[in-house]
Amino acid sequence: MEVSSNGQRSIYCLRHLNPKIFKCLATLLVLLIFRVILFPTISSFGRIEENGLVVVRNLSPLYGSDFGIRVDKFLEVPQIVWGLNNQKIAFARACLTARMLNRTLLMPSLSASLFYKEVERLEPISFDKIFRFEEFNSRCNGFVRLGRYMNISNRTKPIELSKGSGRKWTIERDLEQLEEYSKEPFDQSEVIRIVGKNPFLWHDHWPVKDYAKVFECLVLVDEIEKEVDKVISRIREVGSKVRSKFDSDGTVVQSENLLQPVPYVAVHMRIEIDWMIHCKKLEQRSKINQICSSKEEIMNRVGNILGMKMPAVVYLAVADSLLNDSSILKGWKEGLLPFEKKKLGIDKIYKKYPYLIQSAIDYEVCLRADVFVGNSFSTFSSLVVLGRTQKLMKTGVVDLCDTNLSWPSYAYNILGDSNGPRKWISNMSDTNLKNISYGSNDTSCGKSPR
Ligand SMILES: *[C@@H]1O[C@H](CO)[C@@H](O)[C@H](O)[C@H]1NC(C)=O
Ligand SMILES: *[C@@H]1O[C@H](CO)[C@@H](O)[C@H](O)[C@H]1NC(C)=O
Ligand SMILES: *[C@@H]1O[C@H](CO)[C@@H](O)[C@H](O)[C@H]1NC(C)=O
Ligand SMILES: *[C@@H]1O[C@H](CO)[C@@H](O)[C@H](O)[C@H]1NC(C)=O
Ligand SMILES: *[C@@H]1O[C@H](CO)[C@@H](O)[C@H](O)[C@H]1NC(C)=O
Ligand SMILES: *[C@@H]1O[C@H](CO)[C@@H](O)[C@H](O)[C@H]1NC(C)=O
Ligand SMILES: *[C@@H]1O[C@H](CO)[C@@H](O)[C@H](O)[C@H]1NC(C)=O
Ligand SMILES: *[C@@H]1O[C@H](CO)[C@@H](O)[C@H](O)[C@H]1NC(C)=O
Repeated sequence: MEVSSNGQRSIYCLRHLNPKIFKCLATLLVLLIFRVILFPTISSFGRIEENGLVVVRNLSPLYGSDFGIRVDKFLEVPQIVWGLNNQKIAFARACLTARMLNRTLLMPSLSASLFYKEVERLEPISFDKIFRFEEFNSRCNGFVRLGRYMNISNRTKPIELSKGSGRKWTIERDLEQLEEYSKEPFDQSEVIRIVGKNPFLWHDHWPVKDYAKVFECLVLVDEIEKEVDKVISRIREVGSKVRSKFDSDGTVVQSENLLQPVPYVAVHMRIEIDWMIHCKKLEQRSKINQICSSKEEIMNRVGNILGMKMPAVVYLAVADSLLNDSSILKGWKEGLLPFEKKKLGIDKIYKKYPYLIQSAIDYEVCLRADVFVGNSFSTFSSLVVLGRTQKLMKTGVVDLCDTNLSWPSYAYNILGDSNGPRKWISNMSDTNLKNISYGSNDTSCGKSPR
């Protein structure tokens, strides 16, 4: 409403170049300033200059059909499977495919459990059991859109789009196919159903920033969010106990420090046997010998992080198979106090849920940690760092590799300054998600602080 009256006013100004012009212009200016303040990211007005007079035109609605995705055309995709990261990437890829076809994505099924290969045993779980549906659409408004099956009118039969496979099915052919399906005669069909492989296996056509936009719209449902809060407050609680213990031990704690919560460092420690086998193979194949880190190397490097405030709680995000391995709790530098789910007494929280939700909680705990240390060849770690980089960019910092920033992230498998782990941010201007998420020894931050 505001916008259209704004538009009318500008037309009024144009037509009536009379002595009242100053008043009119002033009003317009005030309205403009308001708009810029209220909606700084949306530049929906074009400016034309006529006789030196700046005229605002084309004031399209902020949200709605002009920018939006069609609400009456849908894309249906196969069930999304495998690990949390695979599912998030696959989901974003499905969204971006729907965007390219200018269609609403029918809310896909995710998978609660993790059975590789045996797709028929994958327990489907609705997207909105994990992430907030309305919140997704409101955050991603104008970019991508989710819809529900009940909103299909079923007037026409869905058109099936079968993605090719094999060596001959190149990224170019895949793109051509999508372009073909965004034109007549397919464009008018109410539903296009993609059949075949899960979206994680489709060819990728989008830059990192598009994926990041979709990820930003994913907000956990309240129930899971509450569990995340419980886990984090338990970690903080342990931290404050640690501090009072340190105080009574006579350790000098500066009074300003007393007011701040004890920081927690989340370490995504990948040392379980499955990973070790995988990473050794990867090292051979890629001829990079910085992929596997031993327990000792991880502990050492985390202990050498410059400027780390002590004491600090170290939250070990580890695979379940390591929860009974007490050796991961020993050998940390003094002042670093390691905890895993069991020692924190929060394994009960996790046990209530299937794999996917457990993983989503751990992701969030790592995302919100004061410091995060992960493996740059792990997709989980990479997506955490992507989320943290976005968070950092929101604060307006320019040099994301500055060693003094809050929420730093590091890769323990790459040597950084002072024998510590290498500072790590995601390159948001990368043209390909694969470059930053499927494993790389490039952490976008040089050896010495820049
Ligand atoms: C989608 O279609 C609507 C309505 O036809 C159009 O206004 C909008 O620009 C299109 N969006 C994209 C991303 O192509
Ligand atoms: C259209 O079909 C879907 C199932 O494919 C169903 O959920 C939906 O309710 C149907 N819509 C109408 C309007 O009948
Ligand atoms: C989808 O269907 C529901 C229930 O009929 C309705 O409340 C909602 O407005 C519909 N949404 C759209 C975008 O058509
Ligand atoms: C990454 O690996 C390549 C190949 O082994 C090597 O040349 C390069 O120096 C490594 N980069 C870093 C940051 O260590
Ligand atoms: C850890 O040990 C306990 C008892 O020894 C056992 O019940 C539990 O299943 C084990 N957990 C894992 C993840 O191995
Ligand atoms: C970080 O902060 C410390 C002390 O506040 C300062 O000495 C140092 O120069 C800073 N480093 C950078 C890279 O800004
Ligand atoms: C980020 O990616 C862009 C595009 O690939 C590249 O030009 C740039 O050098 C990269 N930046 C860093 C810091 O690696
Ligand atoms: C990122 O991926 C693109 C496309 O696959 C490639 O051309 C580019 O060289 C890659 N950039 C880096 C830094 O690896």
